[in-house]
Amino acid sequence: MEKQELKHFENQNIRTFGRRHGKKLSLRKQWLMENLLPKIMPKSAESGAILEIGFGNGEHLRDLAIQHPDTTVIGAEPFANGVAALLSAITNESNNVVLNEYKNIHVFPDDVRLILEKLKDVQFSEIWILHPDPWPKAKHEKRRLLNHDFLNLLSKYIGKNGKIIIGTDHWEYYDWIINELKQTKLEIKSTDLDTIKTRYQIKNKAGTTNPKYLILGNQ
Ligand SMILES: C[S@@+](CC[C@H](N)C(=O)[O-])C[C@H]1O[C@@H](n2cnc3c(N)ncnc32)[C@H](O)[C@@H]1O
Repeated sequence: MEKQELKHFENQNIRTFGRRHGKKLSLRKQWLMENLLPKIMPKSAESGAILEIGFGNGEHLRDLAIQHPDTTVIGAEPFANGVAALLSAITNESNNVVLNEYKNIHVFPDDVRLILEKLKDVQFSEIWILHPDPWPKAKHEKRRLLNHDFLNLLSKYIGKNGKIIIGTDHWEYYDWIINELKQTKLEIKSTDLDTIKTRYQIKNKAGTTNPKYLILGNQ
């Protein structure tokens, strides 16, 4: 990503994600990336929309779309294979048309900070971040997405009543986020949420028994 592209967000020009590409995509997925994706990229959004950052393969994004059929649900994910997996799951295999229950999904295939810059006036009702990359090595700590600068940025997008919902099985990162909150105007409204199954949650690389959650709102 070009430094210049993120000029509005000080200290936010560090890459927070790992791979952009995995194994070669099937022909159907390549077709969806070239033909469907441009049609469902978010151009604008009304307040009340829901955002999921780093949706991976999109299991939870699909659940959000079904749970909130009348709400625009935007997902941002720079990992192309994750985006392709989502596009494949929301379309009919025989004709590549988006299934009715997923018509409210919009996908931004890149760093969420780039689309936030374009959606400056939107007040999201919910912003979800499930299993953000923990970057466990001390030398990589600066790559952690949920630093206080980014949390402060997100706080501007939820207004008075919106929520930021974070889940991680990496408990050290969890405590680190709570510490970062001290430099924001966000507060913890709750930590109580039933475990949400995502691909990463099932892998449980951290080896913990369950993910911990934070539901944040503006003070
Ligand atoms: C550990 S994975 C978790 C994926 C998914 N939420 C799950 O629980 O299975 C973290 C994801 O966040 C994405 N990510 C990291 N930085 C991001 C950013 N700045 N904008 C959008 N997505 C980002 C990565 O590409 C990766 O897919």
